[in-house]
Amino acid sequence: MRLDRFLTHRTDLPRREILRLLAEGQLAVDGAIESSGLRKIGPFTKVELAGEILQAREAVYLMLHKPAGYLSATQDLLHPTVLELIDHPLRDELHLAGRLDRASTGLILLTNDGRWSKRVTEPEEEIPKVYRVTTRDIIAEETAAHFTQGIYFAYEDLTTRPAILEILSEREALLTIHEGRYHQVKRMFHAVGNQVLSLHRERIGALSMDHGLAPGEWRHLSSAEVGYFIPTSGL
Ligand code: URA
Repeated sequence: MRLDRFLTHRTDLPRREILRLLAEGQLAVDGAIESSGLRKIGPFTKVELAGEILQAREAVYLMLHKPAGYLSATQDLLHPTVLELIDHPLRDELHLAGRLDRASTGLILLTNDGRWSKRVTEPEEEIPKVYRVTTRDIIAEETAAHFTQGIYFAYEDLTTRPAILEILSEREALLTIHEGRYHQVKRMFHAVGNQVLSLHRERIGALSMDHGLAPGEWRHLSSAEVGYFIPTSGL
């Protein structure tokens, strides 16, 4: 939103008064005097008018090492949710940027910035997600080729996008997918006659699970990590 429109909505001042305040240098945006009403204001931009704060919301970006048994939801009557693991003052504002099944473990991102989480989760963004998978049966060599060609999901009537399978040992592999269909990894292995026994998300885009975090622990993302999902043209 433009600063002049933001001011009109937020204060009941007439437009000419707003222009005067701007010209007098009474507006500060993120701590610096701003004289142009055309300046773009985001939901987390700090705006002060004559020293009074009109908007100051902290943007929060967290990574969590999800333990098994927790639901990727903000609340649930039956099961504990990942939100219950986050003892942060803004916890109630947070939502998940992508889910994991209840039994799955690993990297989960949480934020109160809806535009950012949309970039992380939007299928069109094609952000790769890397999973470490253990299986019931030996992973056949041709599985990699099947996953590259794509697996047909009858329920959605679609073929999964090319995925990369790196076989690590007889029953362990890294799988990279570029979309997030319901139970996608489990269904892909099921389609080739195997079964996933454990699923751990190692990476989302350029962001890897911090191995210093034990299951259930979380930390703030650094600004560089937040920036992995922001196009270089900015917000
Ligand atoms: N695919 C699955 O089947 N489960 C997950 O939790 C994530 C991807």
